[in-house]
Amino acid sequence: MRADIPGELTKRLAAAQSVCVLTGSGVSAESGVPTFRDAQTGLWAKFQPEELATMEAFQRDPSLVWEWYQWRRKLVRQARPNPAHSALADLEQMFPHFSLISQNVDGLHQAAGSRNMIEFHGNIMRTICADEGCVIEDYDASESPPPCPNCGAYLRPDVVWFGEQIDKQALDAAIAYASACDVFFAIGTSAQVQPAAGLAELAIQSGACMVEINPQQTLLSDRVSYAIHGNAAQVLPALIRALRGRFRERKQ
Ligand code: OAD
Repeated sequence: MRADIPGELTKRLAAAQSVCVLTGSGVSAESGVPTFRDAQTGLWAKFQPEELATMEAFQRDPSLVWEWYQWRRKLVRQARPNPAHSALADLEQMFPHFSLISQNVDGLHQAAGSRNMIEFHGNIMRTICADEGCVIEDYDASESPPPCPNCGAYLRPDVVWFGEQIDKQALDAAIAYASACDVFFAIGTSAQVQPAAGLAELAIQSGACMVEINPQQTLLSDRVSYAIHGNAAQVLPALIRALRGRFRERKQ
């Protein structure tokens, strides 16, 4: 599939000083990590969020929740960054100010080389004490879930569950980036989960040029300056090529 990048968009981007990107699970879809809400293939088409991704669920059936995350960890361990992740790492090098806010918990942006990034919903590979919140690296993995070696409480993955707060530092930084950027990208997200989706709203209200990359229509699509319908792994490399062409023209 060939992705068409509007010339006006590359012109606007080439003039931008500050770019902010919000990504969602669609960016990792082509790495084999399932999305949440896609019909048939999304995780929430097969599982109930309230049975697996809440503190109440963990208290009710800690073993079920731990095992489900162990299964997802296995998928993530097998996954490699795709061209969308690599293109975003390249994009970071092209602007004086660049920030990436990801709802993804798979670590693939960092594996591709992204540096200034916020893990808005945590990281599935990290393990924390469910009571104290501290990161635990060594534990007895034979139990399900394993006990905290310090206090004996259960261990859990370091992800934000429904009903839990986003880390304050991450939220404050994300709000600052979204409200001060020239161009804001929403990529591979259905924009249905708050407060992440609100960052796009904030950028629109702050006057940013809003770009969406998604094969499907979303809640944001009618409000954006540019909606590019396609897969991130095709559209983003095409965007980088177009932008490099524009920068070359400017130098000549
Ligand atoms: P969703 O599953 O809600 O949305 C994924 C989006 O990716 C959809 O709009 C798809 O159309 C799009 N998509 C699918 N394949 C794509 C591709 N190859 N390229 C680009 N886009 C593609 O996932 P999120 O928006 O990430 O929260 O969901 C947000 C949060 O809801 C997640 O972080 C998770 C979930 O519950 C927590 O776990 C706290």
